[in-house]
Amino acid sequence: MASGLVRRAISRVPSSPAAAAKLVLARAHASEAHAQTVDPKATATSDLKKFQIYRWNPDNPKKPELQEYQIDLKDCGPMVLDALIKIKNEIDPSLTFRRSCREGICGSCAMNIDGQNGLACLTKISAGPDSMITPLPHMFVIKDLVVDMTNFYNQYKSIEPWLKRKNPPPTPGKEIPQTKADRSKLDGMYECILCACCSTSCPSYWWNPESYLGPAALLHANRWIMDSRDEYTKERLEAVDDEYKLYRCHTILNCAKACPKGLNPGKQIQNIKALEVNKRFA
Ligand code: SF4
Ligand code: SF4
Ligand code: FES
Repeated sequence: MASGLVRRAISRVPSSPAAAAKLVLARAHASEAHAQTVDPKATATSDLKKFQIYRWNPDNPKKPELQEYQIDLKDCGPMVLDALIKIKNEIDPSLTFRRSCREGICGSCAMNIDGQNGLACLTKISAGPDSMITPLPHMFVIKDLVVDMTNFYNQYKSIEPWLKRKNPPPTPGKEIPQTKADRSKLDGMYECILCACCSTSCPSYWWNPESYLGPAALLHANRWIMDSRDEYTKERLEAVDDEYKLYRCHTILNCAKACPKGLNPGKQIQNIKALEVNKRFA
């Protein structure tokens, strides 16, 4: 993990009252609004809205702060990503965020919008005079709204998210057939776009981000455990049967609430736990 990065929010329980005071201070600094920046096109007939956006620049590493921008919603698309693009194009080209598809497919525009993790391209600009946009919680910030996903992707890689076989396909050179019933067992998992909204909303992941795999990686572990074509089910179950990797999930279900694709990682984790119990008594 790059040492020059700041974590978006506290990453562990404070070790002392002094440490707790420092963390509170860090949050207070993050809530101080920077000088307001106004949309130059705004007129008397405008529908003005303020956005407070988290800013941190590794090239000038001061304390993180919220910078306020005001734009005219009558001259902007309906989604939060439209507002961010408008601010970047017309007011402040230094504002940094990830986006690609603009239709909820790539997962790159995940961020915290008015206190909820979500995809900026699928989240409507809220009613009301202002909104606050910050990076995904408890992640190291690379710049502004861009977080370091290295640990998250390494955890995904660790569950070996590909088909593993001990035997060649039934018909050499052909696909491995699957019944409709077996295929349907992957519903609710294959749709995941690895946006990390779930993992970064999970309290267990906040406190143990390196050792607990988190809801996204575990959802994918279950996706391959449940795949009828995969022949490493037993090994996959053994690989995650660990006090930290799996059993830090306490079924709080923040993950299901946060998922912008309507998935329920907590339910998939429950399935792995049930299979682990069956494995012990088999
Ligand atoms: S159900 Fe498990 S993975 Fe989901 S938020 Fe709760 S502890 Fe985290
Ligand atoms: S389960 Fe949902 S929230 Fe979690 S990474 Fe996949 S799409 Fe994103
Ligand atoms: S830009 Fe691809 S999911 Fe939002």
